[in-house]
Amino acid sequence: MAPRGGFSSRLGFIAAAAGSAVGLGNIWGFPYEVGEGGGAAFVVIYLFFCFILCFPVMATEIAIGRKTQLNPVGAFNALGFKKWNWLGKMGILAGVLILSFYNIIAGWAFGYIFEMITGNFGIADGFSEYIKNVVKVGAYGALFMATTAFVVSKGISGGIEKAAKILMPTLIIMMLIIVGYSLTLPNAVDGLKFYLVPDFSKLSGSVIYNAMGQAFFSLSLGMGALITYGSYVSKKENIVSAAAWVTLADVGIALIAGLMIFPLIGFMSGGTMEGAGRGPGLIFVTLPQIFGNIGGTLGIIAGTVFFVLLCFAALTSTVSLLEVPVSYVVDEMKIKRKKAVWLVAGVIFLVGIPSLLGNGYSEFFSTSFTTYKAGGTDTDFLSLVAAIANDTLLPLGGCLISFFAAYIWKKHNLDEELAEGAPGYKGSFVQKYLNFAVSYLAPIVLGALFVLTV
Ligand code: PHE
Repeated sequence: MAPRGGFSSRLGFIAAAAGSAVGLGNIWGFPYEVGEGGGAAFVVIYLFFCFILCFPVMATEIAIGRKTQLNPVGAFNALGFKKWNWLGKMGILAGVLILSFYNIIAGWAFGYIFEMITGNFGIADGFSEYIKNVVKVGAYGALFMATTAFVVSKGISGGIEKAAKILMPTLIIMMLIIVGYSLTLPNAVDGLKFYLVPDFSKLSGSVIYNAMGQAFFSLSLGMGALITYGSYVSKKENIVSAAAWVTLADVGIALIAGLMIFPLIGFMSGGTMEGAGRGPGLIFVTLPQIFGNIGGTLGIIAGTVFFVLLCFAALTSTVSLLEVPVSYVVDEMKIKRKKAVWLVAGVIFLVGIPSLLGNGYSEFFSTSFTTYKAGGTDTDFLSLVAAIANDTLLPLGGCLISFFAAYIWKKHNLDEELAEGAPGYKGSFVQKYLNFAVSYLAPIVLGALFVLTV
């Protein structure tokens, strides 16, 4: 087997796993989902899923990875349940689909660095033209994918770990500064109300469904990303506390992103909150506004630095997304790592082309699809892929992995692995809670999902 390398320290693993979790899902996805889902009620449901269901799923994924030291498909084989390795394959499929469209959005963000450098804050109004320019944003996407491939080809502790450790804290500080600024704007308070005061009459089946998908997506769960990262973790690591830190960091950053965007929408809409439900373009339309407002050289610097950091956050996520199919190809097909990386990245880029074309350039790819989320209206290819992967495959995968761990691999084996490196774990409340969530909650959600989607 090809050498796998490993994380160099405890903090290294947490930083890398948090790097996977924190990305466009938090800063681009979360505010837009909150906006579409009607505000604070969505936030409440989202938090519920993150802590009650997703945190246990995260610990489970890491445990399976560390136990087997393998990719998601090999992991099921190594535990002696070859018949279950389709679950790993489903995860790899989800990863491929997610990276195919994620990379497009990352390409948009990458291009925004140059718009900000040149002081083109008016890009907010030209956003729909911008994403239609498929040659330009396609080139940005290709560059982004190549950067991801480069980092992954360097191996796990060389590239991924170092970058994550420096850049994540910088991003948080930058976001907090922007929050401070956007709170001073007129009508910011209306944005805060929308974001923080729940109106439960806005709850519906689809809001709950989307909040769950967003929780799994944002925490990188349900497709084996954390099985793969877990496979590089040492036996001395306390998995449960690492999972708790990653969950807290990820949720915290998503909440900060909301604090950054909604006061701004309050300001832009004069308090009516019109435009909050704009969808995937939300941050690309609102953020240039804030930098334009700051204006001058300071606005240019702030805008540029922000999009650079956003791209780094996206990069630590795309790296984990690419790592999953790559580690599968390396472990199971015995292809050299470097070759596998570029091959897989190239294929995924091609898979993303319809998503690239469906943002106004090609009528067919822009309007021919229907999703549960869009309520049956004509929607674009990217939204279709996102709905299949994020909202269906990830929660399905996460709950199935939990079911597998509790009933097939067996609870006591999972507990054994979680207790390794975690002295106080056995007999603790957390243990009881994790056991409950994995054995009962996940299967119930699984059943509900089944009824909903079949
Ligand atoms: N969690 C990442 C984000 O929020 C996306 C991701 C999903 C990464 C699934 C890996 C696996 O941007």
